[in-house]
Amino acid sequence: MSIVDQIRQDDILVLSINNPPVNAFSPGVPEGLKAGLDAAQADDTVRAVVIIGSGRTFVAGADIKTFNMPREQAPDLRGTVEKLDRFPKPTVAAIHGTALGGGLELALACTYRVAVPDAQLGLPEVKLGVLPGAGGTQRLPRVVGAAKGLEMMLSGNPIRGAEARELGLVDELVQGDLLEGAVRFARAHADARPLPRISERSVEGGSPEVFAAARESIKKTHRGQLSPSLIIDLAEMAATQPFQTGWEAEAEKFMQAKDSPQSRGLRHIFFAERESAKIPGLSKDTPTLDIRSVGIIGAGTMGGGIAMNFLNVGIPVTIVETAQEALDRGLGVIRRNYENSAKKGRMTMEDVEKRMALLTPTLNMEDLADADIIIEAVFENMDVKKEIFTKLDAIAKPGAILATNTSTLDVNEIASVTGRPESVIGLHFFSPANVMKLLEIVRADKTSDSVLATSMALAKKIRKVGVVVGVCDGFVGNRMIHRYGDEARKIVEEGAAPQDVDASMNALGLPMGPFQMSDMAGLDIGYAIRQHQAKVRGEPKPDGWLDRIVERGRKGQKTGAGIYDYDEQRKPRPNDEMEELISSYRAEKGITPREISQEESTKRLAYSLVNEGAKILEEGIAQRAGDIDVIYIYGYGFPAYRGGPMQYADEMGLQNVVADLEKYGQTPAPLLRRLAEEGKTFAQYDAEKGRA
Ligand code: 3HC
Repeated sequence: MSIVDQIRQDDILVLSINNPPVNAFSPGVPEGLKAGLDAAQADDTVRAVVIIGSGRTFVAGADIKTFNMPREQAPDLRGTVEKLDRFPKPTVAAIHGTALGGGLELALACTYRVAVPDAQLGLPEVKLGVLPGAGGTQRLPRVVGAAKGLEMMLSGNPIRGAEARELGLVDELVQGDLLEGAVRFARAHADARPLPRISERSVEGGSPEVFAAARESIKKTHRGQLSPSLIIDLAEMAATQPFQTGWEAEAEKFMQAKDSPQSRGLRHIFFAERESAKIPGLSKDTPTLDIRSVGIIGAGTMGGGIAMNFLNVGIPVTIVETAQEALDRGLGVIRRNYENSAKKGRMTMEDVEKRMALLTPTLNMEDLADADIIIEAVFENMDVKKEIFTKLDAIAKPGAILATNTSTLDVNEIASVTGRPESVIGLHFFSPANVMKLLEIVRADKTSDSVLATSMALAKKIRKVGVVVGVCDGFVGNRMIHRYGDEARKIVEEGAAPQDVDASMNALGLPMGPFQMSDMAGLDIGYAIRQHQAKVRGEPKPDGWLDRIVERGRKGQKTGAGIYDYDEQRKPRPNDEMEELISSYRAEKGITPREISQEESTKRLAYSLVNEGAKILEEGIAQRAGDIDVIYIYGYGFPAYRGGPMQYADEMGLQNVVADLEKYGQTPAPLLRRLAEEGKTFAQYDAEKGRA
């Protein structure tokens, strides 16, 4: 098999692309396709050409790994597309699996497209911070109209073959064997002349209002991002200019987007997410357990949210509480959540009932005896957790996974009370647990490979991004966020207003700054942690300005007031009482407030994450810098287009990060300092470690 096979089917030449796993447009593919087209053109007995993907999919796009190659060495997708557009005989793209990005652009340059009904067709480039760069911005609107074209290119979401047929993007749906259907179609259209070419069509519905509305909408959906506005500009060109003008402009804007830090950030996350699923020491052969039933202890906000994940994918859940009232309340919240989704049209009432029927409430922990996995989700208290795990050890069937949803506590200590520490693992869900995509999977000292592999597979099944972390206080995400919170409080102490500190992170693209976030989570949580840590360390009772706020009963959004006041719509408003409290606190401590620029605030906060991240990396609590980035994108609202805090540091230059940390009085972590001295990046550190 070569990268593009030429298979003769009488009068039709089939070009079959073999570039597993997803037939990306890698080096060799354009050469193979062009050779096939040349052969078809030179041979009078070939009447038409079919292009098909071998294996599980059509072409899933340009090869993202080649984006860093010099232009001349990168696979020539645009040249292939041009050749197809000018080709004198009919060409048919036969689509199954996914035709994405450059894959769909290739298909759009063919004369015809046939597809299986469940094929997926889309232009997801925006998700990588780029834009369709091989004619997609010019051809897709010419087929599906301006509005639909914009919707597809700005959301990046694919449509199914059946919808594509309705839109005219696909000419025929093939129900049986795709190759057979495609060859039949090609033969039936072999004599069509003149050949219909999308590049010769005009765009329907391309009024100025459509583009104005799109420009308005991306202010909300893609705030601060470059490629969406370039996509709109190009789609407008498709509607108003000759094809060739738009085609040339597209090439230039594609390079502009591709070379932006935003695209580098999004591409980094694309690969980091896939890399995070790979655990050294585990392989495809590591045995996994079949999870057919789940037990959950605690029907509070976390327990209920966790339960919904399993109900959503059809796995029955038994949920345990200590009192009937708490159980009823928990079930009520789950039901209401589902009913709200039904009201919004995201599911039917039948779906609601189906999910609720999978849920068994009980007051008796013994009812968990048959569960394949039991997840404890009670409040953060080591003694309580140990008591529960002692009981579980006696109740759970042999081989069942015993998981704790602790966000900070020592999973080794919890495991130690059982006679089967190899079955114990941390599964740290993020609130709201039915919404947030992140799952920190905490591998304790004795957790078995099989329990770890099963947990990773389970994360995927419930559509979470699972990242393996080691045991330490706060694991990866919360350990870093504690340092960030400390720095945020310090910046206010030195002179900034809380709203300015929040604004400095909003400017980086985080929807919430540190104080907006802690008001939402509840200020009493951080307060309790600080008090607890001081006690453990034998330090005096913490008495910072934020502690004083909490001691006034202002616990955040849930009490209607925290660092900010809140109106009915939960809109935060700075208030005089807090300003006074902070001012008098500074006066009491003899601090003369100084002006702190937004740049200083952003750097101090972002770099406090990076610095702690570097320590975490060196200690092996996270396996890769990329894992930390994935955790921050999916669990903490760090903007994906920045690629996560570690990638952001790489972009800023680690030498600059070190210099700034020192300038602002933080001590750079040894690993960070070492990489900076060697002129390296975290990405290089990951790559070298991966090769080792
Ligand atoms: N380039 C390079 N590698 C790719 C790739 C691509 N376009 N798409 C997927 N891969 C790799 C993944 O990194 C992964 O590698 P690994 O096994 O070493 O980790 C492997 O293929 C399998 O991918 P997934 O694990 O994601 O497999 P799934 O079956 O879950 O998903 C998919 C398949 C839906 C195709 C998904 O991989 C995907 O969405 N890929 C990206 C598609 C895309 O964005 N295409 C547009 C590219 S940009 C472009 O075309 C520019 C053009 O307009 C000029």
